Amino acid sequence: MPKIIIAVDGYSSCGKSTTAKGVAAYLGYAYIDTGAMYRAVTLYFMTQHVSLTNPKEVAKALENIKIDFRRNPETGRNETYLNGLNVEDEIRKLYIANWVSEVSAVSEVRRAMVAQQQRMGKARGVVMDGRDIGTVVFPDAELKVFMTAEPEIRAERRQIELLAKGEMLDLDDILQNIKKRDHIDTTRSDSPLRQASDAVSVDTSFMTLDEQIDLVTQLADERI
Ligand code: C5P
Repeated sequence: MPKIIIAVDGYSSCGKSTTAKGVAAYLGYAYIDTGAMYRAVTLYFMTQHVSLTNPKEVAKALENIKIDFRRNPETGRNETYLNGLNVEDEIRKLYIANWVSEVSAVSEVRRAMVAQQQRMGKARGVVMDGRDIGTVVFPDAELKVFMTAEPEIRAERRQIELLAKGEMLDLDDILQNIKKRDHIDTTRSDSPLRQASDAVSVDTSFMTLDEQIDLVTQLADERI
């Protein structure tokens, strides 16, 4: 059976990662969370005080960053490692979310991440979620899905997710962060978030996660 690439792009907290994970599990494909890669870079830049406006510092930092995903045998989930250290929980925190879009807008950062993502998906058989997968990373992906949802609904979902991880945050702070990231992600000059012309648009505002997974699985089955 031929293996395909499934690109799941869209706004934050639309259910992209849960959907992508579910579809990958169903197909026996690898799942790659590209947002986690940008978050890991952000964590490194923040802890090492890398100036985003200093190209030499940025290039040097990128040379020293190694990101990989490892499966946790206890939970069965893929976790993000930065230079051999498990940073999965740290990169999900709001202080990273507050800065990640600025870091992701830097062209050198994008070039390094895109090259790594293209290597990871070379053998196909991957579900990759992000902002520019269908437009930049794999413009030849056999299935492209573009997810949207009302910002208020996304903020509520994010609040529940963070609460489950023990972070109790004000709904309005989360909504502001989501709106700020939407704005930076859609207006940056390098690979802005936009729907690929051949992507299937899915508004998840009133869909359950199971419905999202079923829909994308069905779309994938039609293309395999
Ligand atoms: O998907 P997630 O919300 O974890 O992504 C965090 C941020 O990383 C996004 O808001 C965006 O700024 C950036 N990102 C990106 N390109 C991707 C994936 C994420 O610019 N392919």
